[in-house]
Amino acid sequence: MNHAQLRSTGSYLPERVMENAELEALVDTSDAWIRERTGIARRHIAAPEQTCADLAEQAALSAMAAAGLGPNDIDMLVVATSTPNQVFPSTACGLIERLNLRSGVIAFDVAAACSGFVYALDIANRFIQTGGAGRALVIGAEVFSRILDWSDRSTCVLFGDGAGAVIIESASEPGILSTHLHADGRQESLLNVPWGVSQGYEALEGGRGKVSMRGNEVFRVAVRTLGALVDETLAANNLKRGDVDWLVPHQANIRIMTATARQLGLPLERMVSTVENHGNTSAASIPLALDHAVRDGRIQRGELLLLEAFGAGFTWGSALIRY
Ligand code: UT7
Repeated sequence: MNHAQLRSTGSYLPERVMENAELEALVDTSDAWIRERTGIARRHIAAPEQTCADLAEQAALSAMAAAGLGPNDIDMLVVATSTPNQVFPSTACGLIERLNLRSGVIAFDVAAACSGFVYALDIANRFIQTGGAGRALVIGAEVFSRILDWSDRSTCVLFGDGAGAVIIESASEPGILSTHLHADGRQESLLNVPWGVSQGYEALEGGRGKVSMRGNEVFRVAVRTLGALVDETLAANNLKRGDVDWLVPHQANIRIMTATARQLGLPLERMVSTVENHGNTSAASIPLALDHAVRDGRIQRGELLLLEAFGAGFTWGSALIRY
């Protein structure tokens, strides 16, 4: 079996920043409540004409530039998103022409909500391990602002738009050490966008096309599940608490993130947190956070990174990476 290594990272955030104060004018909330309960101070919001593919394209270009790679160097493109440009073709297929990739590359989207990036990374890793691809561009991109009910304070304060990307490639030494994916649909109704092409498509009015969440119940499942997930990841690699250099978590809520860091035995300065400035960008949040910490010099080559996510489905997953 081949190994896959993390070659580069990239990201993109839309220009417009929405501060908590702006939300105070839309719903009955306060900057203090949002900061205290979630850690969020602001989020980026895509311009009306910006699509998921627009954000993904910029993140991809940023990862390709960081690696010094051109369009002919990519064999595979996976986009994790819950807010794609259209039903089909996939957002990934649409990016082939935009990025000028070779005709014949492998390209598809992955839907696993906030865990989508970890799912996409796991899949691309397996393609590289088995020789199906030599180099893969893995993107998480979301325009969640389009599926928010801006009159629902329990959800609209939480999310933002953005995209992050990584390039992984075949290597002689292992970089992606293990991946762990899970799902259980039994509590689907706690967090969903309850419509689709074959269900309620014709009745999009009345808020049915928007995110619906019983946050407090999701919170409790998330903390418990992520605690077990990091234990599973450490055990699979014969590691103990404190052995990981960086936690790069899905950025849903600072309180969930710190509980996971505690479970890992890590001081908070070893947890990459972008939730304050980005909010929850769903499948984009991990690659966005990773790219920020790589570019500002915190994450160094050779360090051990634990990526983890929990999201609608429920889905959850982790990846342990020697960067
Ligand atoms: O990314 C995918 C997975 N998603 C998550 O992991 C999100 C998990 N959930 C959470 O992050 C948290 O549950 C929330 C941030 C959504 C909510 O925080 P909480 O501490 O669980 O609050 P709560 O839902 O228990 O609500 C506490 C109070 C309620 O008022 P009462 O009943 O105590 O009077 C809510 O109505 O806060 C109220 N509330 C708000 N107040 C001001 C709910 N939303 C708001 C708001 N502003 N935006």
